Formats: sequence, structure tokens, C-alpha cells
Amino acid sequence: MDCILGIDLGTSGTKTVLFDTEGAALASHTVEYPLYQPKNGWAEQNPEDWWQAVKETVGAVLKTAGINAKSVRGVGLSGQMHGLVMLDGDGNVLRRAILWCDGRTRKQCEEITETLGREKLIAITANPALPGFTAGKILWVREHEPEIYEKCRHILLPKDFIRYKLTGEFATEVSDASGMNLLDVPNRRWSGEVLSALDIDPALLGTMHESADVTGVVTSAAAEATGLAPGTPVVGGAGDNAAAAIGTGVVETGRAFTTIGTSGVIFAHSDKVTIDPKGRVHSFCSAVPGAWTVMSCTLAAGLSLQWFRNNFCGAERETAAGMGVDPYELMTAAAEKSPIGANRLIYLPYLMGERSPLLDSDARGAFIGLSAMHTKRDLTRAVLEGVTYSQRQCLDVFREMGVPIGQMMACGGGAASPFWRQMLADVYGCPVQTVASREGPALGAAILAGVGAGVWGSVEEGCGAVIRLNPPQGPDRAAGAAYEPFYRLFCSLYPALAQPFHTLAAL
Ligand code: XUL
Repeated sequence: MDCILGIDLGTSGTKTVLFDTEGAALASHTVEYPLYQPKNGWAEQNPEDWWQAVKETVGAVLKTAGINAKSVRGVGLSGQMHGLVMLDGDGNVLRRAILWCDGRTRKQCEEITETLGREKLIAITANPALPGFTAGKILWVREHEPEIYEKCRHILLPKDFIRYKLTGEFATEVSDASGMNLLDVPNRRWSGEVLSALDIDPALLGTMHESADVTGVVTSAAAEATGLAPGTPVVGGAGDNAAAAIGTGVVETGRAFTTIGTSGVIFAHSDKVTIDPKGRVHSFCSAVPGAWTVMSCTLAAGLSLQWFRNNFCGAERETAAGMGVDPYELMTAAAEKSPIGANRLIYLPYLMGERSPLLDSDARGAFIGLSAMHTKRDLTRAVLEGVTYSQRQCLDVFREMGVPIGQMMACGGGAASPFWRQMLADVYGCPVQTVASREGPALGAAILAGVGAGVWGSVEEGCGAVIRLNPPQGPDRAAGAAYEPFYRLFCSLYPALAQPFHTLAAL
């Protein structure tokens, strides 16, 4: 039997899924790793932890499925975007990776904007300089850790580090490279002009590919480490959101999805480069050749609920372990008992600062309106609602820009909860829909692998062959009307608190 493998390098863990060529998951395995926050607003991970997780998960799925490794036609990689991995000339990791949700580079972003001029930067890279993106992180290391920058010979994105470990190739692809502030996004190639203005040697960067191109094959060392067969093709793959788009069939104009993973994203396919002049949402290359995407990113979406679980829900975790269920199920079941508006409590999800639509790395989280009558269930509901309002605020930017959205898919851990999905539909005022497969980015990466390996002639054909839609879940208009004043109030809170957030950051 022919199989395809999708490896999704997330922030909470790596999930590897082996699929047959009809898209059925034959085996899936996830390994988690730590997130380091050495300072308020910083976020790092150890790339060697990712590689360890890839070795374990690939080995586990091959073993569970009990197939001959030679039947894996191709491997696709999907990964958290924007992270900076630096290697020396021997391919050794020089420092922990600085992640997408790290907000330390405000000053470097101002420098990039001044050097290139905002208009030119946006014309070339389709985005303003943003603290989450990679260029500012490169400049930060050059300024603060010159001895590391001196030794650096290769700059890679997280999933591209895994590609290097699997194939020995230093390569990347257009969807993920779009989030570095170094790509000429309309022309899908590194921008010589930006690199030269920022004095970054192009030799540090990987070879550019389209997402379904074969970028190399599994080496014998990597075969020994993972159980894959030497010579197995590894395709470009995609940033996790572009991969989720393929895994949910968002490959035509009019289609969009919301994902609630660690981050929260609204993502729409587009057949042209569509730029928000205010920079509130991003414009990237799609994993579909000749297409682009518009995307928002809330930094702490699922991360808000995870933070709440880890710090305040010890009892739920213990009970859930005893019952053999996920603690989030108990938490959302309790939240459902709190009314819309959480008894007049509003949560701002800015735990890591905020990207879309606020662009403020100094913003921080808050519960507004706490009363002695509130219970944990109100706080949990407020967290779910706050994250949902933040998605709606981003969706309103898409609507203001006239990005056509005829079908809204929902995916990621958050959207697995029927309660949270209904909240999304009610607050958006439109139906939301899921696909039959729960594998999201891993499925998207595997479809790209299938296209690269010749199983399908195009990404669209691959999606057509494997993606099945569940019926849409419509909005409850009365609930939507009840959420509306809370949503309006939510939108007014950041502007009122921006100055205090900046003062707090400076203390
Ligand atoms: C997108 C973004 C996140 C990461 C983490 O711009 O920063 O969605 O890709 O998953």
C-alpha cells in the first residue's frame, strides 16, 4: 500500500501522521517539548528537542502502522512559522530558536523600517517589519550576541531545520519564507534589495522552492535515526497555516479557515497579492503555486486556555486523568454553564503581546470586570470569549479589506470543541464547517508530499482526492446579538489600555 507522511512541528509538540493515499490516517503520534520564556515577552525552544520529537514520532507511526518504510512515497513538513534557527558551518545549533511569539525585536523592526522605508518594504515583502517575523530576530542576535552571529553560516526556519536533519539540504519554500520580511512575496524569491539593505549575506539562507517541490531525499543517517527508507523524497511542505489551508481544502478564492491552536489564525486564499496598508493582517505566498494568502494571527489563542489550565486548573487535570478524558473537556463543560458575557467579565488575550490587529508587543493580558461573584467557570468562559472576540476583530479587518469569504472552515485543537465552534459561528455571524480529518497541517503537508511524489498532478487534485467536509454549523442569531455588546466593549479596551501597557513594559 502507498503511504504519505506529514510531520507538523507545532509549538506545544510535534505531530506526525501516516496517511494512505485516500487521506485516511493509519497512525498518529505526538511528542511534546518545553517552551522557554527567559524574560517577559520572550519565547524560545531548543531545535534539538524538535529533532528528537521527529525521530520518536516517525519511528512510532511506522511501527504502529506496521508497514514497510519503502511504501512511504514522500514526506511533507509543516511547522510553526517565523522562528530563527542558527547553525554553524558544521550544522550545529548555535543558540535556542527565537520563536514566532517572541516580542523582543521592536527596536530592530523600527531599524528595518527606517533603512528600507515603510512603503518599499511593504511593496517588496508585502508586510511591515513585525516583531514576530524573522528579520528582526537576525538583527537582534547580530546586535546582542555578536559572537554567535559571527559563527552563523546557516539561517533556517523551524521545519527547514528538520529538512536539514532528514536530507542534509539547506532549503526552504515560499509559504514559510514569506514570514521572514526577506522574501520578494509577489515574485516568490529572496529579495536581493532587502538583504543588501540589511547587510544579511544571502549565502546564509536556504535554496527557495515551491511547497510541493522535492527538496531532497532522506539520507542513510536520517534513515537509521527515524526508520524511514533512505532515498525517500522530502518535499518543501509549508508553514503550519499554509499547510492547514491545504488540509482543509482552502485552495480557491472565497475559501477561508479559522484555526485555534497555540495561536489563532484567520486565513483566506487569494489569487493575487492583497495587502492591508495598515499591516494588521499578513500577505504571504500560498502553498498553491501562483496563489497568495491573507492571514491574521492572534498570538495567545489556545495558549490562553493552556496557560489558564496549567496555572489554575490542577483539580480538573487530576479529575480528567482519573476519567481518561482531556482536561479541556471538563473546563469547557464548566464554561458552558456561565452565561454569554461570563457574568460581565471580559478577557484580553494579550499574554505574549499582540500581533493582529493591534501590532503591539507591549500589550498584555487582562480580566476586566472581575467581581467577588465570579467563579472559575466565568473566568474560563471569559477566556474562550476573549479569544473568539479577537478572531472576530481580525475577521472584521478582512471584511473591511473586501477579502471574499464564502466558506469558513474551523480547525485546530480549539475548533475540536463543539461549544467553541458554535461560539465562533455566533460571534462571526456565519456558518463554520470542519473537515472529516482531524489532522489539519499534517494532512496538508502529506498532500504536498503526495503531489511531489507524483501521486497527484496538483495540490487541488490532491485536496479533491482526500478532503471530505462535515455539514456546516450555522450561527444562532439570538446568541450572536447577545455577544455583540460584549464584542464592541472588547474592541474599546485595548485603545484605553495601550498607554498603561507601555508604561508597565518600561518599569
Ligand atoms: C503565524 C504565526 C503562528 C505560528 C505558530 O504568523 O506566527 O501561527 O505559525 O503556529
